[in-house]
Amino acid sequence: MPWKLERGDAFNGTHATLHTGAKIPIVGLGTWKSKPGEVAAAIRVGVEAGVRHIDCAQIYGNEKEIGEALKGLFDSGVVKREELFITSKLWNTFHAAQDVRPALQKTLSDLQLDYLDLYLIHWPHGFERGEVLFPRNEDGTVRYADTHYMESWGEMEKAVNDGLVRHIGLSNFNSRQMNEVYEKGTIKPAVNQCECHPYLNQEQLLAAARKLNIVFTAYSPLGSGDRPWAKPEDPKLLDDANLKAIADKYSKTSAQVLIRFQLERGVAVIPKSVNADRIRANFNVFDFELSEEDMVQLASFNRPWRACEPKLKLADGSEIPRDAAHPLYPFNDAY
Ligand code: A2P
Repeated sequence: MPWKLERGDAFNGTHATLHTGAKIPIVGLGTWKSKPGEVAAAIRVGVEAGVRHIDCAQIYGNEKEIGEALKGLFDSGVVKREELFITSKLWNTFHAAQDVRPALQKTLSDLQLDYLDLYLIHWPHGFERGEVLFPRNEDGTVRYADTHYMESWGEMEKAVNDGLVRHIGLSNFNSRQMNEVYEKGTIKPAVNQCECHPYLNQEQLLAAARKLNIVFTAYSPLGSGDRPWAKPEDPKLLDDANLKAIADKYSKTSAQVLIRFQLERGVAVIPKSVNADRIRANFNVFDFELSEEDMVQLASFNRPWRACEPKLKLADGSEIPRDAAHPLYPFNDAY
């Protein structure tokens, strides 16, 4: 199927509109891999540069520092709470109904917030309950739980009704799982946040989300070169010569083109950086437009290749996707 640029009805140039009518700033700041000690400065620089959307998660291990940075920004009057769009995510060990509210409350307390703009189920598949965030067997395999995400979703809905979160949504859900939550849920998912960049353009999943008026958010938009399991032989998106050639035409960097690629499709995008110049540059993407031809070329880089699929090494030395054995693992079958 030839690639066709669709901007999506929900996009107005700087924001996408969620099903409630609320707006999500199209470019946010990612915080996965941003270390405590670096992340607070990153948040400050980002907000001072105009970033109004911050993407967090309990599993990133840095929500306390982000909370301190936010408090400083609110106290000094740089920005008001209601001017920011703040997302966090329910981790895999807290899918059981009784664990959802305490997990949300921990996130709210760490972030020093009364409410989140968006709370996502981080992954469709659950891990064994408990305080250990990666419970493992002796052979290194993860200990799973068979809690279904619809059980978690019921509690997510209650959090909306109780005013603790404005919107709820999904992350890493495939099209079938996304459709299921949409059909069975009382409150519709506002967002599906998934890995997305030209090497994994997610054309079909994005089209499926659009049909349901679910905003798509692209994580790892720059290819997440700093992911802990990166191997030297893995593709390096930011070093792609064809991407660089497109960027040169616009006198922009490859990173800025990768971010603009998502904007042009109405996809929210959350590049991570802890470097002040790069944070500012990543937000400086509203003064150019990619041509249809360049968009088609960028989409044609699709391999598809996932940066975010941690692997498990088996006794014979071979590797498999770590969580592929879980019946709710999203990347086994449906797009
Ligand atoms: P740093 O935090 O030192 O800037 P992703 O958002 O896909 O997860 O990618 C994050 C990775 O890309 C990090 O290693 C980050 O490093 C790097 N990065 C972020 N912005 C840029 C940029 N404008 N140019 C080059 N690398 C960038």
